[in-house]
Amino acid sequence: MKEFARKQRDENRIVGLVPTMGALHPGHLSLIKQARQQCTSLVASIFVNPTQFGPSEDFAKYPRTLSSDTENLENAGVQCLFLPEAKDIYPPNYSTYVNVEGLSERLEGRSRPGHFRGVSTVVMKLLQIVQPDFAYFGRKDAQQATIISRMAKDLNLDCEIVICPIEREPDGLAMSSRNVYLQQSDRQAATVLYRSLQAAQALLQNGSRDALSLQSVMQQVFKEESRAKIDYVEIVDAQTFEPLMHINRKAYVLIAAKFGETRLLDNMLVDFNDNGQLTNEL
Ligand code: PAJ
Repeated sequence: MKEFARKQRDENRIVGLVPTMGALHPGHLSLIKQARQQCTSLVASIFVNPTQFGPSEDFAKYPRTLSSDTENLENAGVQCLFLPEAKDIYPPNYSTYVNVEGLSERLEGRSRPGHFRGVSTVVMKLLQIVQPDFAYFGRKDAQQATIISRMAKDLNLDCEIVICPIEREPDGLAMSSRNVYLQQSDRQAATVLYRSLQAAQALLQNGSRDALSLQSVMQQVFKEESRAKIDYVEIVDAQTFEPLMHINRKAYVLIAAKFGETRLLDNMLVDFNDNGQLTNEL
């Protein structure tokens, strides 16, 4: 992989990296589409990274669909698929980890201790191996994308981290490799994530900037959906992920909920343009 990447750089190509865990869906492919607009050589990686799964999480049963993934990547114009094995990424006596402090301990980090340490470590390794000019991450996992951006800045990496919009199903459910775990009735119920964000969006557009009101309207939407169990509904500063009471700067409205055994995430980005007008992206 390093040899190929070096050759791409020697040929003055602009190298883009899209890291994934496979089970590819249109959300992943939208990152590749964005990469194709900025780069002249595209590398995608598929690695189900053991260090980001907790002991009781779904590492063993995480969906693995390599042959259709390979076909999708080829059709999307990816030049190189990096498919390392765990024994190469974490050989015996492996002992170095990257931890983005503070940011990694909140929200997803609190629900999944050690998760982000595994994510930042593997992404750091992938960036070291491929040395891309750009690396692409989805806003679907907003805290992950923010942690990676923080790491790239803090460790002076020569790579621009690009955060891409959320790709959704026609009924609004954010695409995710874990959606295949949902039973029929939970799949239906899972649209409550998007509906609750829409309710928050409507409140914002009516001029409310009060985080508590947004949280309460979202919880109200969830009350109608008995199959869903909220893990958290939070409004946070987009840089620090500290809770925000009054929404007057770039922020995320974040939601995590369980449907049966399946835990799903969604979010909305809230920002203000140069005229101070609200903008939001679902
Ligand atoms: P994975 O869940 O396979 O996701 C790979 C990338 O696709 C992530 O950046 C994720 O945010 C993005 N993505 C997933 N669903 C999306 C959607 N609906 N719209 C837009 N982007 C979406 O996230 C990981 O893998 C891993 O943690 C990884 C970064 C590869 C490190 O192991």
